[in-house]
Amino acid sequence: MCGIFAVVNDMSGDASQTVLTGLKKLEYRGYDSWGIAIKPGKSTPGVSLQIEKHVGKIGAATTNLPKGDIAIGHTRWATHGGVTDDNAHPHLDCSGKIAVIHNGIVENYLDIKEELIQKNHKFISETDTEIIAHLIEEKSKTISLADAVFETFNQLVGSNAIVVLDLTTETIIACRDGSPLVVGIDEKNNQFFLGSDVPAFLKFTNKVHFLEDGEGVIVSKKEIKLVMMRSSHIYLPKKIRWQILDWKHEDAEKDGYPHFLLKEIMEQKNTIAKTISINEKEIKEISNLIGKGYKTTFIGCGTASYCALAGKYFFANVGVESQIYGAYEYLPFSKFVNEKSMVVAISQSGETADTLIAVKVAKKKGAKIVAIVNSRGSTLERLADIVLSVGAGPEIAVVSTKAFTAQLSTIYLLSKAISNEYEKGKNEIKNLSDSLTNWMNGKLTDQIITLAKELMNEEHIYLIGKHLNYPAALEFALKLKESSYLHAEPFAAGELKHGVITLIQKGTPCFVLASNDDIKGEILSSAAELSARGGKIIGVAPFESQEFDLNIKTPDLGELTIFVNIIVGQLLGYYLGVGRGADPDKPRNLAKSVTVK
Ligand code: G6P
Repeated sequence: MCGIFAVVNDMSGDASQTVLTGLKKLEYRGYDSWGIAIKPGKSTPGVSLQIEKHVGKIGAATTNLPKGDIAIGHTRWATHGGVTDDNAHPHLDCSGKIAVIHNGIVENYLDIKEELIQKNHKFISETDTEIIAHLIEEKSKTISLADAVFETFNQLVGSNAIVVLDLTTETIIACRDGSPLVVGIDEKNNQFFLGSDVPAFLKFTNKVHFLEDGEGVIVSKKEIKLVMMRSSHIYLPKKIRWQILDWKHEDAEKDGYPHFLLKEIMEQKNTIAKTISINEKEIKEISNLIGKGYKTTFIGCGTASYCALAGKYFFANVGVESQIYGAYEYLPFSKFVNEKSMVVAISQSGETADTLIAVKVAKKKGAKIVAIVNSRGSTLERLADIVLSVGAGPEIAVVSTKAFTAQLSTIYLLSKAISNEYEKGKNEIKNLSDSLTNWMNGKLTDQIITLAKELMNEEHIYLIGKHLNYPAALEFALKLKESSYLHAEPFAAGELKHGVITLIQKGTPCFVLASNDDIKGEILSSAAELSARGGKIIGVAPFESQEFDLNIKTPDLGELTIFVNIIVGQLLGYYLGVGRGADPDKPRNLAKSVTVK
């Protein structure tokens, strides 16, 4: 949820600027407020930590903090305590020498706060985070700072990651349990970085170590030490196994586009095709397991849950029954898990708390865990027995687009492997990708901008789809809601007559998503029913029809038509969002990865 970034030995000598720039790359993780703490100048006795904190987005922010080469910073997605300057991170201890930033929720913070108040600690904010700074201060009266940080961290209940800047030792100490944290090293310039995600420091290095749960790092000006926190006072040194990511600095830049969302929608011309050349071994392994009788359950949240639903249709089309659950509704059904269950968890970030909780339960009961994930080094990846890494590259916009289609493509290829048509599936995906290159052009954009202008002031939009176009309608509607705040409600076409039709009045915009398949006639009948009640019918399909008042024509790609139908929703959501004054990259109230329950 929140974004964390820290630097030690900043080579520019202006660490607060470096942190500010890095935080801008992480703003998708939370944008209620931001803050930076720096130890100014050289090691001068008497110098204190300087802090700047502000409510609101970091986008155009500047900072007047003094120069220095060690700093930490944070973008917040509020959980405990309102959106105020005081509640923004970093938080200080009473002495002002220890600054803390935090991602997660400290479930037992009230008990700890009470004890600390009894010991005369003074609190400024309403956050759970502030207790961490004071508890470290309290403990460091008798033990070393590193001991105090690790002991404090072990006392916190919940999923958390913290980064602590200590003025006295000029050290940053960080640890994680449940919330993501990655450390980066730029050996050439002797710079060390910490982030909740790689894009924050990708400009400087792609040499990283993703911290595991229970790991901590002590980053001094001299070195980075990795430790395993076992219990209070005992932490064991560990060798860091650095990995070099194939991500490039440009992947986390807008590359001339006005927004990441538009850039990422357009990148799908390449990202979908990439899925053809990866994961072959894993796909075959999974299809073998299914052949041996493993029963598949797809889980995910938000966009990933619609990917899961589409996966269920792809599987059914090759004769394999599967189940799907929104990960947040999985627990009552986890009792049916056994050693022949395969839980396929879909997630862009691999850090969504509800998905991880469901996976942990299923794993405990003996299920094989498959992760279909985009981000690298995630918790989900570590929990999984088999990882299908979809390779769409960093997705910065909160609204998921290229990660979704890469996941969907991967599941499609898996379904084709199950029916011994993997090579055919690869050709179909290649053909889809080629079609995108031709179809996603200026003409399509103009058509969608015209439609966005027409729909700009609508309050309600309805969508229908049948079979594979039903999850497509769900995803299309979610893109409109997330990107433009327009009320878009999707239905299975068959549901229409069972209540929904009361909502349709003269001029109500109704999207009809269809493919050129054997149920085309049925969906057109539903369109006619909407039309008869005055609905304005907008067809998104590879064919024209007299039932459509307007038609966005998509390429005819068989089952894969849903990809292009959904891309219409992505683009329309983007242009509606821009037109309605929303921030397409950072929609209100949303966070890209929801790491709390
Ligand atoms: C949040 C985001 C959604 C996303 C969902 C699942 O709710 O706002 O856009 O689909 O999380 O995220 P994941 O990283 O698990 O795919």
